[in-house]
Amino acid sequence: MSRHLCLLLVLSALALPAQAAPLIIKFSHVVAPDTPKGRAALKFKDLAEKMTRGKVRVQVYPNSLLYKDREELEALQINAVQMLAPSLSKFGPLGLREFELFDLPYLFPDEQVLHRVMDGPIGQRLLQRLESKGLLGLAYWDNGFKHFSANRPLHKLEDFKGLRMRIQPSQVLAAQMRALGAQPQPMGFAEVYGALERGVVDGTENPESNFFSQQMDRVQSHLTLSQHGYLGYVVVVNLRVWRGLPDDIRLTLEEALRLATVFERQIAREDNRQALARVRAAGRTQVHILPQAERERLRQQMLPVHRAFMPVIGRDLIEGSYRAAAESAPPP
Ligand code: LMR
Repeated sequence: MSRHLCLLLVLSALALPAQAAPLIIKFSHVVAPDTPKGRAALKFKDLAEKMTRGKVRVQVYPNSLLYKDREELEALQINAVQMLAPSLSKFGPLGLREFELFDLPYLFPDEQVLHRVMDGPIGQRLLQRLESKGLLGLAYWDNGFKHFSANRPLHKLEDFKGLRMRIQPSQVLAAQMRALGAQPQPMGFAEVYGALERGVVDGTENPESNFFSQQMDRVQSHLTLSQHGYLGYVVVVNLRVWRGLPDDIRLTLEEALRLATVFERQIAREDNRQALARVRAAGRTQVHILPQAERERLRQQMLPVHRAFMPVIGRDLIEGSYRAAAESAPPP
């Protein structure tokens, strides 16, 4: 290349406006990419990068690759990661025990009631509580209703006796398992498969998508469709860091998240339905339907947990959820 041409290239490069390095948002989570949360995180990445025209790059780390669920909230508080979607059961250990509302067994008869509570004043009040921990809750994401699994059939209440059951770190979930005569074993999500494989625990509870995508059907011979409790998420960011973003970027990211949330709420139920179909097709786990009478026995056995946790969670939150359920009940 001639010296003249070289000089021209250098001069024209200098004339270009400096391209600012994109802002990096690390979004860490503990489940597989092919789950409602995993897919919505990727949807958010796609929308956020397009809508900010490359000013933001979102790096999604699934399957506890970056942080396990015990560490990820601490990492967010020190801005080592910028976005998470922990399950609602993971906020109790931070001291936000009101979130254990969502762990109460048989509190929400269906998704409509759940969404009415989550998207109404109760859900908003809980999001505000996050601010006391330096966090900002931007959206609720669904997974779905949980089912019990074990390495023996769970047809009736007595079958739970003495089983070591993995739970998320929630006192309500521990009380629920004790009410059934089982022994609760809190454990991070990344450890569950190995613990089931080695027989450290006998069983657990999951929505179908987590059960199948973590290949738990290889280590659990029985799954009972109990639908006894709910598992969902809050998308959280660091309050100070988020409020420090330039207004245009922050508002665009919030709009991208709103769209990703609409997508997430639409796919969650179908993802779980497909996951159950795959468990059935793989044929490694026997799937049991809980007869109505046995479901009612389990429910009666677990209901005292609601009353026991009223002082911790707040009577008004629990009774507000009962009212939401009553409003949607068909007239007698
Ligand atoms: C669990 O620990 O079972 C769940 O919180 C995992 C998840 O994020 O869905």
